[in-house]
Amino acid sequence: MKAVVLVGGEGTRLRPLTETVPKPLLPVVNRSFLHRVLDHLAEHGVHEVVLSSPYLEATFGPFIAERHGDPKITWITESHPLGTGGAIVNALPFLDLEPFFVLNGDILTDLDLSALLSFHRSTGAVATITLSTVDDARPYGLVATDGAGRVLEFREKPADPVPGTVNAGTYVIDPSALEGWPSGDMISIEREIYPALIGGGRPVFGFVTDAYWMDLGTPEKYLRAHVDVLQGRIHGIDTSVRIADDAFVDPTAAVGDMVVIGAETAVAARVRIEGSVLHAGCMVGEGARIEGSILGAGSVVGAGAELRRCVLGQGARVPAGMRASEMRVPSGADAASG
Ligand code: GDD
Ligand code: MG
Repeated sequence: MKAVVLVGGEGTRLRPLTETVPKPLLPVVNRSFLHRVLDHLAEHGVHEVVLSSPYLEATFGPFIAERHGDPKITWITESHPLGTGGAIVNALPFLDLEPFFVLNGDILTDLDLSALLSFHRSTGAVATITLSTVDDARPYGLVATDGAGRVLEFREKPADPVPGTVNAGTYVIDPSALEGWPSGDMISIEREIYPALIGGGRPVFGFVTDAYWMDLGTPEKYLRAHVDVLQGRIHGIDTSVRIADDAFVDPTAAVGDMVVIGAETAVAARVRIEGSVLHAGCMVGEGARIEGSILGAGSVVGAGAELRRCVLGQGARVPAGMRASEMRVPSGADAASG
Protein backbone atom coordinates (compact mmCIF):
# COMPACT_ATOMS: atom_id res chain seq x y z
CA MET A 1 0.00 0.00 0.00
CA LYS A 2 1.26 3.44 -0.94
CA ALA A 3 0.24 6.96 0.02
CA VAL A 4 0.48 10.50 -1.25
CA VAL A 5 0.96 13.13 1.45
CA LEU A 6 0.11 16.64 0.29
CA VAL A 7 2.87 18.86 1.65
CA GLY A 8 3.06 21.61 -0.97
CA GLY A 9 0.80 24.36 0.32
CA GLU A 10 2.12 27.77 1.34
CA GLY A 11 0.53 27.68 4.79
CA THR A 12 -0.54 31.30 4.47
CA ARG A 13 -2.60 31.34 7.67
CA LEU A 14 0.48 30.26 9.64
CA ARG A 15 2.68 33.10 8.45
CA PRO A 16 5.21 34.27 9.47
CA LEU A 17 6.22 30.76 10.68
CA THR A 18 5.68 29.31 7.21
CA GLU A 19 7.72 32.00 5.48
CA THR A 20 10.79 29.83 6.10
CA VAL A 21 9.42 26.43 7.19
CA PRO A 22 6.67 24.60 5.28
CA LYS A 23 3.72 23.73 7.51
CA PRO A 24 4.35 19.94 7.56
CA LEU A 25 7.92 20.55 8.76
CA LEU A 26 6.97 22.81 11.66
CA PRO A 27 7.82 21.11 14.94
CA VAL A 28 5.07 19.64 17.09
CA VAL A 29 6.59 19.03 20.53
CA ASN A 30 10.06 19.52 19.10
CA ARG A 31 9.85 17.13 16.16
CA SER A 32 8.89 17.92 12.56
CA PHE A 33 5.18 17.17 12.26
CA LEU A 34 5.69 15.19 9.04
CA HIS A 35 7.51 12.49 11.05
CA ARG A 36 4.31 11.87 12.98
CA VAL A 37 2.26 11.65 9.74
CA LEU A 38 4.69 9.15 8.25
CA ASP A 39 4.90 7.10 11.48
CA HIS A 40 1.11 6.88 11.51
CA LEU A 41 1.11 5.60 7.92
CA ALA A 42 3.81 3.04 8.75
CA GLU A 43 1.70 1.73 11.66
CA HIS A 44 -1.00 0.93 9.12
CA GLY A 45 1.22 -0.90 6.66
CA VAL A 46 2.15 1.87 4.25
CA HIS A 47 5.64 1.20 2.93
CA GLU A 48 6.03 4.00 0.40
CA VAL A 49 4.92 7.62 0.25
CA VAL A 50 5.09 10.07 -2.62
CA LEU A 51 5.70 13.71 -1.72
CA SER A 52 6.11 16.90 -3.72
CA SER A 53 6.22 20.60 -3.00
CA PRO A 54 6.75 23.60 -5.22
CA TYR A 55 7.07 25.70 -2.04
CA LEU A 56 10.37 25.78 -0.09
CA GLU A 57 11.28 22.49 -1.76
CA ALA A 58 14.90 22.57 -0.57
CA THR A 59 13.84 22.53 3.10
CA PHE A 60 12.56 18.97 2.69
CA GLY A 61 16.07 17.68 1.82
CA PRO A 62 17.39 17.58 5.41
CA PHE A 63 14.11 16.05 6.61
CA ILE A 64 14.35 13.22 4.09
CA ALA A 65 18.03 12.71 4.95
CA GLU A 66 17.34 12.39 8.69
CA ARG A 67 14.29 10.14 8.26
CA HIS A 68 14.93 6.41 8.60
CA GLY A 69 12.76 3.33 8.20
CA ASP A 70 9.21 2.94 6.94
CA PRO A 71 7.73 4.34 4.78
CA LYS A 72 10.24 4.88 2.01
CA ILE A 73 9.97 8.42 0.59
CA THR A 74 9.76 9.07 -3.13
CA TRP A 75 10.24 12.78 -3.76
CA ILE A 76 8.92 14.03 -7.09
CA THR A 77 9.14 17.40 -8.79
CA GLU A 78 6.27 19.85 -8.72
CA SER A 79 7.79 22.84 -10.44
CA HIS A 80 4.70 25.03 -10.03
CA PRO A 81 1.74 24.63 -7.66
CA LEU A 82 -0.61 21.95 -8.98
CA GLY A 83 -3.22 22.23 -6.26
CA THR A 84 -4.43 19.31 -4.17
CA GLY A 85 -5.83 17.39 -7.17
CA GLY A 86 -3.02 18.19 -9.59
CA ALA A 87 -0.40 17.03 -7.07
CA ILE A 88 -2.14 13.64 -6.81
CA VAL A 89 -2.49 13.28 -10.60
CA ASN A 90 1.22 14.18 -10.87
CA ALA A 91 2.05 11.34 -8.44
CA LEU A 92 0.11 8.65 -10.34
CA PRO A 93 3.12 7.29 -12.30
CA PHE A 94 4.77 6.52 -8.94
CA LEU A 95 1.76 4.66 -7.53
CA ASP A 96 0.38 1.20 -8.23
CA LEU A 97 -2.78 0.19 -10.03
CA GLU A 98 -4.56 -0.24 -6.74
CA PRO A 99 -6.14 2.07 -4.15
CA PHE A 100 -3.81 4.37 -2.24
CA PHE A 101 -4.14 6.74 0.71
CA VAL A 102 -4.04 10.51 0.27
CA LEU A 103 -3.40 12.68 3.33
CA ASN A 104 -3.45 16.41 3.75
CA GLY A 105 -0.05 17.05 5.34
CA ASP A 106 -1.33 19.28 8.14
CA ILE A 107 -3.74 16.95 9.93
CA LEU A 108 -3.02 15.57 13.39
CA THR A 109 -5.20 12.51 13.84
CA ASP A 110 -5.22 9.00 15.23
CA LEU A 111 -7.72 7.83 12.65
CA ASP A 112 -7.73 4.05 12.12
CA LEU A 113 -6.44 4.00 8.54
CA SER A 114 -6.84 0.22 8.33
CA ALA A 115 -10.55 0.52 9.17
CA LEU A 116 -10.88 3.25 6.54
CA LEU A 117 -9.32 0.95 3.94
CA SER A 118 -11.61 -1.96 4.90
CA PHE A 119 -14.63 0.32 4.61
CA HIS A 120 -13.44 1.52 1.20
CA ARG A 121 -13.13 -2.07 -0.02
CA SER A 122 -16.56 -3.04 1.35
CA THR A 123 -18.49 -0.36 -0.56
CA GLY A 124 -16.90 -0.62 -3.99
CA ALA A 125 -16.24 3.13 -3.95
CA VAL A 126 -13.78 4.76 -6.35
CA ALA A 127 -12.93 7.17 -3.55
CA THR A 128 -13.63 7.32 0.17
CA ILE A 129 -13.46 10.57 2.11
CA THR A 130 -12.96 10.56 5.89
CA LEU A 131 -15.56 12.77 7.55
CA SER A 132 -15.58 14.54 10.86
CA THR A 133 -18.52 16.31 12.49
CA VAL A 134 -18.18 20.04 13.21
CA ASP A 135 -20.41 22.91 14.34
CA ASP A 136 -19.16 25.35 11.72
CA ALA A 137 -18.15 23.99 8.31
CA ARG A 138 -16.83 27.24 6.85
CA PRO A 139 -13.08 26.40 7.05
CA TYR A 140 -13.66 22.96 5.54
CA GLY A 141 -15.28 20.98 2.76
CA LEU A 142 -18.90 20.25 3.67
CA VAL A 143 -19.86 16.73 2.62
CA ALA A 144 -23.44 15.45 2.48
CA THR A 145 -24.07 11.69 2.42
CA ASP A 146 -27.11 9.42 2.19
CA GLY A 147 -28.03 6.79 4.79
CA ALA A 148 -25.62 4.27 3.28
CA GLY A 149 -22.71 6.72 3.41
CA ARG A 150 -22.68 7.58 -0.28
CA VAL A 151 -21.57 11.14 -0.93
CA LEU A 152 -24.30 13.30 -2.48
CA GLU A 153 -22.52 16.65 -2.48
CA PHE A 154 -19.08 18.14 -1.76
CA ARG A 155 -19.10 21.88 -1.08
CA GLU A 156 -15.69 23.38 -0.32
CA LYS A 157 -15.60 26.31 2.17
CA PRO A 158 -19.35 26.97 2.47
CA ALA A 159 -20.22 30.61 3.07
CA ASP A 160 -22.57 30.01 6.00
CA PRO A 161 -21.67 28.67 9.47
CA VAL A 162 -23.60 25.43 9.14
CA PRO A 163 -22.95 22.29 11.22
CA GLY A 164 -22.34 18.99 9.47
CA THR A 165 -19.84 16.38 8.37
CA VAL A 166 -16.73 17.79 6.72
CA ASN A 167 -13.79 16.47 4.76
CA ALA A 168 -11.16 15.45 7.31
CA GLY A 169 -8.40 15.39 4.69
CA THR A 170 -7.72 11.63 4.53
CA TYR A 171 -8.84 9.65 1.48
CA VAL A 172 -8.57 6.27 -0.14
CA ILE A 173 -8.56 6.71 -3.90
CA ASP A 174 -8.66 4.18 -6.70
CA PRO A 175 -6.53 5.31 -9.67
CA SER A 176 -9.58 4.92 -11.93
CA ALA A 177 -11.14 7.90 -10.12
CA LEU A 178 -8.49 10.16 -11.67
CA GLU A 179 -8.72 9.00 -15.28
CA GLY A 180 -8.94 11.83 -17.77
CA TRP A 181 -7.39 14.56 -15.58
CA PRO A 182 -4.34 16.02 -17.36
CA SER A 183 -0.97 15.80 -15.64
CA GLY A 184 0.71 19.15 -14.98
CA ASP A 185 -2.48 21.19 -14.62
CA MET A 186 -3.56 23.04 -11.49
CA ILE A 187 -6.54 21.04 -10.17
CA SER A 188 -8.40 21.12 -6.87
CA ILE A 189 -9.61 17.74 -5.65
CA GLU A 190 -12.17 19.50 -3.46
CA ARG A 191 -13.60 21.91 -6.03
CA GLU A 192 -13.13 19.91 -9.23
CA ILE A 193 -12.41 16.20 -8.93
CA TYR A 194 -14.88 15.24 -6.19
CA PRO A 195 -17.76 17.29 -7.65
CA ALA A 196 -17.07 15.76 -11.09
CA LEU A 197 -17.06 12.20 -9.72
CA ILE A 198 -20.27 12.78 -7.75
CA GLY A 199 -21.96 14.58 -10.65
CA GLY A 200 -20.95 11.74 -12.98
CA GLY A 201 -22.60 9.16 -10.75
CA ARG A 202 -19.36 7.45 -9.68
CA PRO A 203 -19.51 5.91 -6.18
CA VAL A 204 -17.80 8.18 -3.65
CA PHE A 205 -18.33 7.25 0.01
CA GLY A 206 -17.88 9.03 3.31
CA PHE A 207 -16.26 7.32 6.29
CA VAL A 208 -17.48 9.09 9.41
CA THR A 209 -15.07 9.01 12.33
CA ASP A 210 -14.94 10.45 15.81
CA ALA A 211 -11.18 9.95 16.04
CA TYR A 212 -9.10 12.90 17.26
CA TRP A 213 -8.69 15.31 14.38
CA MET A 214 -7.05 18.73 14.08
CA ASP A 215 -5.96 20.76 11.07
CA LEU A 216 -2.82 22.64 12.15
CA GLY A 217 -3.43 25.44 9.69
CA THR A 218 -3.71 28.46 12.03
CA PRO A 219 -1.68 29.63 15.06
CA GLU A 220 -4.68 28.95 17.33
CA LYS A 221 -5.02 25.37 16.10
CA TYR A 222 -1.27 24.78 16.19
CA LEU A 223 -1.26 25.79 19.87
CA ARG A 224 -4.48 23.86 20.54
CA ALA A 225 -2.90 20.71 19.07
CA HIS A 226 0.06 21.11 21.46
CA VAL A 227 -2.26 21.33 24.44
CA ASP A 228 -4.16 18.25 23.26
CA VAL A 229 -0.93 16.31 22.83
CA LEU A 230 0.45 17.42 26.22
CA GLN A 231 -2.84 16.57 27.94
CA GLY A 232 -2.80 13.09 26.42
CA ARG A 233 -5.84 13.52 24.15
CA ILE A 234 -3.89 12.04 21.27
CA HIS A 235 -1.04 9.56 21.41
CA GLY A 236 1.95 8.86 19.21
CA ILE A 237 3.91 12.04 19.92
CA ASP A 238 6.72 11.84 22.46
CA THR A 239 6.01 14.47 25.12
CA SER A 240 9.11 13.67 27.18
CA VAL A 241 10.99 16.14 24.98
CA ARG A 242 8.59 19.00 25.83
CA ILE A 243 11.57 20.92 27.19
CA ALA A 244 14.46 19.97 24.92
CA ASP A 245 17.41 18.41 26.72
CA ASP A 246 19.77 21.10 25.59
CA ALA A 247 17.42 24.03 26.25
CA PHE A 248 18.54 26.32 29.03
CA VAL A 249 15.84 27.43 31.46
CA ASP A 250 16.92 29.58 34.38
CA PRO A 251 15.78 28.05 37.69
CA THR A 252 13.93 31.26 38.57
CA ALA A 253 11.84 31.17 35.37
CA ALA A 254 8.20 30.00 35.65
CA VAL A 255 7.36 27.74 32.73
CA GLY A 256 3.78 26.40 32.58
CA ASP A 257 2.83 22.81 31.80
CA MET A 258 1.44 23.73 28.40
CA VAL A 259 4.73 25.13 27.15
CA VAL A 260 7.18 23.58 24.71
CA ILE A 261 10.79 24.75 24.55
CA GLY A 262 13.03 23.89 21.64
CA ALA A 263 16.65 22.81 21.44
CA GLU A 264 19.23 25.38 22.46
CA THR A 265 16.59 27.91 23.41
CA ALA A 266 17.61 30.03 26.39
CA VAL A 267 15.11 31.36 28.93
CA ALA A 268 16.56 33.91 31.33
CA ALA A 269 15.85 34.66 34.99
CA ARG A 270 12.32 35.48 36.18
CA VAL A 271 10.75 34.88 32.76
CA ARG A 272 7.12 33.67 32.85
CA ILE A 273 5.75 31.56 30.01
CA GLU A 274 2.26 30.07 29.65
CA GLY A 275 0.56 28.18 26.80
CA SER A 276 3.28 28.86 24.24
CA VAL A 277 5.58 27.06 21.86
CA LEU A 278 9.19 28.20 21.50
CA HIS A 279 11.10 26.70 18.60
CA ALA A 280 14.82 25.98 18.61
CA GLY A 281 17.51 28.55 19.32
CA CYS A 282 15.31 31.33 20.75
CA MET A 283 16.46 33.77 23.41
CA VAL A 284 14.09 35.16 26.00
CA GLY A 285 15.50 37.98 28.09
CA GLU A 286 15.19 38.48 31.82
CA GLY A 287 11.73 39.08 33.24
CA ALA A 288 9.91 38.73 29.89
CA ARG A 289 6.34 37.37 29.86
CA ILE A 290 5.04 35.19 27.07
CA GLU A 291 1.50 33.92 26.81
CA GLY A 292 -0.37 32.06 24.04
CA SER A 293 2.42 32.77 21.59
CA ILE A 294 4.61 30.97 19.06
CA LEU A 295 8.28 31.93 18.75
CA GLY A 296 9.89 30.86 15.49
CA ALA A 297 13.41 29.41 15.53
CA GLY A 298 16.15 31.80 16.57
CA SER A 299 13.80 34.60 17.56
CA VAL A 300 14.81 36.98 20.33
CA VAL A 301 12.60 38.55 22.99
CA GLY A 302 14.21 41.39 24.90
CA ALA A 303 14.22 41.70 28.69
CA GLY A 304 10.92 42.66 30.27
CA ALA A 305 8.94 42.38 27.02
CA GLU A 306 5.34 41.11 27.29
CA LEU A 307 3.82 39.11 24.45
CA ARG A 308 0.25 37.83 24.27
CA ARG A 309 -1.04 35.73 21.37
CA CYS A 310 1.91 36.78 19.21
CA VAL A 311 3.66 34.89 16.42
CA LEU A 312 7.32 35.59 15.68
CA GLY A 313 8.90 34.45 12.44
CA GLN A 314 12.30 32.83 12.31
CA GLY A 315 14.98 35.17 13.69
CA ALA A 316 12.49 37.93 14.52
CA ARG A 317 13.39 40.32 17.34
CA VAL A 318 11.26 42.01 19.97
CA PRO A 319 12.92 44.92 21.79
CA ALA A 320 13.27 44.99 25.56
CA GLY A 321 10.24 46.25 27.41
CA MET A 322 7.84 46.05 24.45
CA ARG A 323 4.25 45.05 25.22
CA ALA A 324 2.26 43.53 22.39
CA SER A 325 -0.73 41.34 21.74
CA GLU A 326 -1.83 39.65 18.49
CA MET A 327 1.40 40.85 16.87
CA ARG A 328 2.98 39.08 13.89
CA VAL A 329 6.67 39.76 13.31
CA PRO A 330 8.04 38.67 9.92
CA SER A 331 11.11 36.43 9.75
CA GLY A 332 14.31 38.32 10.44
CA ALA A 333 12.47 41.54 11.26
CA ASP A 334 12.47 43.82 14.30
CA ALA A 335 9.05 44.27 15.86
CA ALA A 336 7.96 47.79 15.13
CA SER A 337 6.97 49.59 18.30
CA GLY A 338 3.86 51.74 18.56
N1 GDD B 1 1.73 19.31 -3.39
C1 GDD B 1 0.85 20.28 -3.15
N2 GDD B 1 0.64 21.23 -4.12
N3 GDD B 1 0.21 20.32 -1.97
C2 GDD B 1 -0.68 21.32 -1.77
C3 GDD B 1 -0.96 22.33 -2.73
C4 GDD B 1 -0.24 22.27 -3.97
O1 GDD B 1 -0.40 23.11 -4.87
N4 GDD B 1 -1.89 23.18 -2.20
C5 GDD B 1 -2.18 22.71 -0.97
N5 GDD B 1 -1.45 21.59 -0.69
C6 GDD B 1 -1.48 20.79 0.54
C7 GDD B 1 -1.26 21.59 1.81
O2 GDD B 1 0.13 21.60 2.15
C8 GDD B 1 -2.07 20.83 2.84
O3 GDD B 1 -1.34 19.78 3.44
C9 GDD B 1 -3.19 20.21 2.02
O4 GDD B 1 -2.79 20.28 0.64
C10 GDD B 1 -4.53 20.95 2.20
O5 GDD B 1 -4.32 22.32 1.97
P1 GDD B 1 -4.76 23.42 3.05
O6 GDD B 1 -4.33 24.73 2.52
O7 GDD B 1 -4.33 23.02 4.41
O8 GDD B 1 -6.34 23.33 2.88
P2 GDD B 1 -7.47 23.67 3.95
O9 GDD B 1 -7.07 23.30 5.33
O10 GDD B 1 -7.94 25.06 3.71
O11 GDD B 1 -8.68 22.69 3.46
C11 GDD B 1 -8.43 21.33 3.20
O12 GDD B 1 -8.39 20.59 4.41
C12 GDD B 1 -9.63 20.57 5.18
C13 GDD B 1 -9.41 19.69 6.38
O13 GDD B 1 -8.46 20.21 7.22
C14 GDD B 1 -9.55 20.80 2.29
O14 GDD B 1 -9.19 19.49 1.90
C15 GDD B 1 -10.90 20.81 3.01
O15 GDD B 1 -11.89 20.20 2.19
C16 GDD B 1 -10.79 20.03 4.32
O16 GDD B 1 -12.02 20.08 5.04
MG1 MG C 1 -5.32 22.62 6.19
